[in-house]
Amino acid sequence: MPLENMKAMLSKAAAGKYAVGAFNILDYNSAKAVVQAAEGLLAPVIVQTSAKTVTFWGSRTLMGWMTELAASARVPVAVHLDHCKDLALIEECIEAGWTSVMIDASARPFEENLSLSRRVVEMARPRDVTVEAELGAIVGVEDDIHVKEQDSHLADPAQAVEFCAKVRPDCFAPAIGTAHGIYKGEPKIAYHILEKVAATTRVPIALHGGTGLSDDVFKRCIALGCAKVNISTQIKYAFIDGFVGYHNAHNTQYDPLKVIQAQFEEMKKGIAANIQLFGGAGQA
Ligand code: 13P
Repeated sequence: MPLENMKAMLSKAAAGKYAVGAFNILDYNSAKAVVQAAEGLLAPVIVQTSAKTVTFWGSRTLMGWMTELAASARVPVAVHLDHCKDLALIEECIEAGWTSVMIDASARPFEENLSLSRRVVEMARPRDVTVEAELGAIVGVEDDIHVKEQDSHLADPAQAVEFCAKVRPDCFAPAIGTAHGIYKGEPKIAYHILEKVAATTRVPIALHGGTGLSDDVFKRCIALGCAKVNISTQIKYAFIDGFVGYHNAHNTQYDPLKVIQAQFEEMKKGIAANIQLFGGAGQA
């Protein structure tokens, strides 16, 4: 199937009270693990790239892999640029064929965030590319974006309504207490903010910081309006553990394709478990 944007998949998910998994890839092997996990479960899926990964491989190389993987898949696949502060890189990804982008101007004052996010919507919408925008500041490290505990703050529901009315994003990422990276202790999720924001903005919500949340937290957030769940750190761990684990168990065997296959299986297993947990299986 050709790549598609997030619009239809997220509105269907929001209506059906399930979430589409959005998985941050690192290379061809991880992209293949995401698409094949979704394919095996007949689930729509979002392949996500961080700005750092795009810069590392180059947008054309990444898009070549993604187009080839999606073409042979029978499930809807969107390619989304995760947290990006750089409008030139957003433009480059749109040109290269990304079907969705995230503008992260959340570190800026409200009015600046609003106008930058609007500019991205103006760039993207005529090309049928969907846009995610963020309000508040999500704590933790997501590749090149570092938000310290003292600089993080939750989204303000009244500002969220104004922001969504003026920006009209296709997907909204309010900071609700989740964190990028590994949780230190139990996360305090502001369910009341999530509930209010989802009900008043009526925009599908993206749940960031998916790695390490409990099944109950996922279920509650999805029931309250999260239609997209982001997973990154878990894939980084599976990428390295799958590779190193195989080599440690077969340390006299220098057969790279077997190591790459073990890494693929490790990533695919975790991704498939997430898709099932978020309710995406059978929704393609
Ligand atoms: P984790 O790294 O905690 O899974 O968060 C992923 C994310 O939200 C990417 O934007």
